[in-house]
Amino acid sequence: MFCHRLSLLPIFRQTIRNPNFHARSFHITTMAQTNKLKPAARVAGQKLDVWTIVNEAATASPIQPIVNMGQGFFGYNPPDFILNAAKEALNRVECNQYSPTKGRPRLKKAIADAYSPHWGRKINPDTEVTITTGANEGMLSAFMAFIEPGDEVIVFEPFFDQYISNIEMPGGKIVYVPMHPPKSGATETSSAGEWTIDYDELERAITPRTKMLVLNTPHNPVGKVYRKDELEKIAALCVKNQIIILSDEVYDRLYYVPFTRIATLSPEVEKITLTVGSAGKNFYATGWRVGWLMGPADLIQYVSAAHTRICYSSVSPLQEACAVGFEQAEAQGFWDESIKDMQRRMSRFNEIWKELGVPYSEPEGGYFVMVNLHKVKLPEDYPFPPHVAERPRDFKLAWFLIQEVGVAAIPPTEFYTEANESIVEDYLRFAVCKPDDVLDLAKERLRGLKKYIQD
Ligand SMILES: Cc1ncc(COP(=O)(O)O)c(C=O)c1O
Repeated sequence: MFCHRLSLLPIFRQTIRNPNFHARSFHITTMAQTNKLKPAARVAGQKLDVWTIVNEAATASPIQPIVNMGQGFFGYNPPDFILNAAKEALNRVECNQYSPTKGRPRLKKAIADAYSPHWGRKINPDTEVTITTGANEGMLSAFMAFIEPGDEVIVFEPFFDQYISNIEMPGGKIVYVPMHPPKSGATETSSAGEWTIDYDELERAITPRTKMLVLNTPHNPVGKVYRKDELEKIAALCVKNQIIILSDEVYDRLYYVPFTRIATLSPEVEKITLTVGSAGKNFYATGWRVGWLMGPADLIQYVSAAHTRICYSSVSPLQEACAVGFEQAEAQGFWDESIKDMQRRMSRFNEIWKELGVPYSEPEGGYFVMVNLHKVKLPEDYPFPPHVAERPRDFKLAWFLIQEVGVAAIPPTEFYTEANESIVEDYLRFAVCKPDDVLDLAKERLRGLKKYIQD
């Protein structure tokens, strides 16, 4: 406010001296100010994002409180051995100060030790692991490290929404390749593994400017775990064209079928692969914002360099707690328990779809389930607000579910480009990482859909 007034002072003085001066220069000054206040295109998206719409619907719903099965945050705490480690870390002087930019040595070592058996060799914690502020900032660091304006990045649809702005910030151009759902998705429950990539389509998407490819397995939102033979096809194309693979494996401890890590396919693949992990997902602590990247030293060093520019270093006491998590998880039986526990929640929740005769994609990993609500007939004159009415059917389904039965889910066309959104407009994504009473209440409420279902 003060600065604003100061900037008008010279105009005021000029006006007193020369009455003709006023109009034109005042206009120019305000124009300049307006332009300077304008946000950069990279943050000035026009479309209301899905989280805003779902939250707005939740507030407007006559059923309160709504059951939130939308966002993928856990409805329960990390295990005690990790929580206690965080509390202890807060009492230690050095844990409340800056960590090294590449991460705390104890956490890097714990991660290297935990993953070395999967890699079949000893991972070097000093050069092949870098700690980031959640997987999301880790991926931004990777794009910042390797993408020059105009470089192309291949992303499969549906995609985790944060990839897009993370790639666009350094000027990357996204080339989309859709995953195709099973043909009978509207009528039959089938495995999430039946969502497929057309490998010819993938090969056609590669150009001399293709710099990176983003893979996500286990996949959000589909729940697919890529089979080894599928990964081999993707890897072969990347090796042939020297494309960096950014393998987002944040759900790597939640798989219900055999899980292959693409970096472990061969030394050639390992050389071009950055693997992304998230302690938030691993230890039920998405708010801790601790993630990491692993990969060859000559790639990791640049990710670390970008991370240093973006946020310098990551939260110290929680890195320490995650170190304890990785040191003790195996011995505590936590990884096995984690899988069993999530599978149990998944089965408990999905009973409702069997009861309603509504098909879904049986997840192979992660904690999301994609449900096909083609059979739900939305009343023709339903009063959707204009910004929902103009969106694809899944947005209307999400709005309708919140208003009529008080359950929130995510419309997955948000994770597709407009060209391909019709592929998933009958689906909604539900997150099952919620306590049993929440899952049961959601099921109870979803029974209210019965009267809208037509076979
Ligand atoms: C596929 C995928 N990648 C990355 C992330 C981000 O992980 P983090 O919370 O560690 O940043 C998420 C979070 O939902 C995700 O679903």
